[in-house]
Amino acid sequence: MEALKTQGIDLPRLGFGTFRMPGGGCQPVVESALELGYRHIDTAEMYQNEEAVGAAITASGLARKQLHLTTKVWHENLAQDALRRALDASLAKLGVDYVDLYMVHWPSRDMDLGAVMETMQGFLQSGTVRSIGVCNFNVTMLRKAIEEVGAPIACHQIEYHAFLDQSKMLNYLREKGIPLVAYAPLAQGRAASDPVLQAIGTKHGATAAQVALAWLLEQDGVAVIPKAQRRESQKSNLDALAVKLDDEDRHAIAALPKNHRFVTPPFAPEWDA
Ligand SMILES: NC(=O)c1ccc[n+]([C@@H]2O[C@H](COP(=O)([O-])OP(=O)(O)OC[C@H]3O[C@@H](n4cnc5c(N)ncnc54)[C@H](OP(=O)(O)O)[C@@H]3O)[C@@H](O)[C@H]2O)c1
Repeated sequence: MEALKTQGIDLPRLGFGTFRMPGGGCQPVVESALELGYRHIDTAEMYQNEEAVGAAITASGLARKQLHLTTKVWHENLAQDALRRALDASLAKLGVDYVDLYMVHWPSRDMDLGAVMETMQGFLQSGTVRSIGVCNFNVTMLRKAIEEVGAPIACHQIEYHAFLDQSKMLNYLREKGIPLVAYAPLAQGRAASDPVLQAIGTKHGATAAQVALAWLLEQDGVAVIPKAQRRESQKSNLDALAVKLDDEDRHAIAALPKNHRFVTPPFAPEWDA
């Protein structure tokens, strides 16, 4: 599968999300995804499934190097000692010596960004983390991390789908050569029942969900991490790599409302800053 090269890692453009699958039930789901060919797994300490993800990786028999593994530190654990403990706990639960990408899951209002990034860079030196990234930053925060602190941000993970405009963020990231990892790429499943995407799908012998993923995948520097518990959906999402859109499709998708943000916890930053 095509991968995005960034800060020494190769990030497969279509990964597998694992949010809302806490506990052991996540293991067979991730085993199925690995068997179908996914080689990029996205988890987080907050998802409470790192043990299950680790067990699935072991059960798959894949060599560790064949797989890209992302995990994330929760926003309450950004002080230096807490961050170190969080990484150690994630590695132990996952049963691995290193993760390919370690991300700040959400910014926190009282974090010391310079100290957070310095601690994360220390992980790079120790070899427990191959690259570092952030999620849910606004452009002002990203600019600070990259231009003031000088952190080697490998990618930025944010909500992005056919119903949410992220052009300002994409412009900034492209200027810096940093990939955007689109979370909730199916608008948490809503894309599957959208009539415009369905009509485009019918034209290409594809599903609406595949059209939603194909639209993201054709954009420069964008990776996607759809989550699917059902094996048919896991397979169908992988097959979205082969779906090609035309200009008429792009115009129709561009005309969809682009102001629907579905992930808005109370601790979210001011998005437009
Ligand atoms: N960094 C962050 O703050 C953050 C926030 C949110 C998410 N994420 C990451 O991004 C991943 C993806 O986001 P998400 O899970 O919120 O939403 P999503 O991937 O947009 O949507 C998942 C939903 O879509 C359904 N679905 C999947 N494939 C489908 C298909 N082919 N046809 C119809 N329905 C389909 C799934 O159903 P079933 O599962 O029932 O099959 C599930 O209900 C997460 O799992 C997580 O790893 C990160």
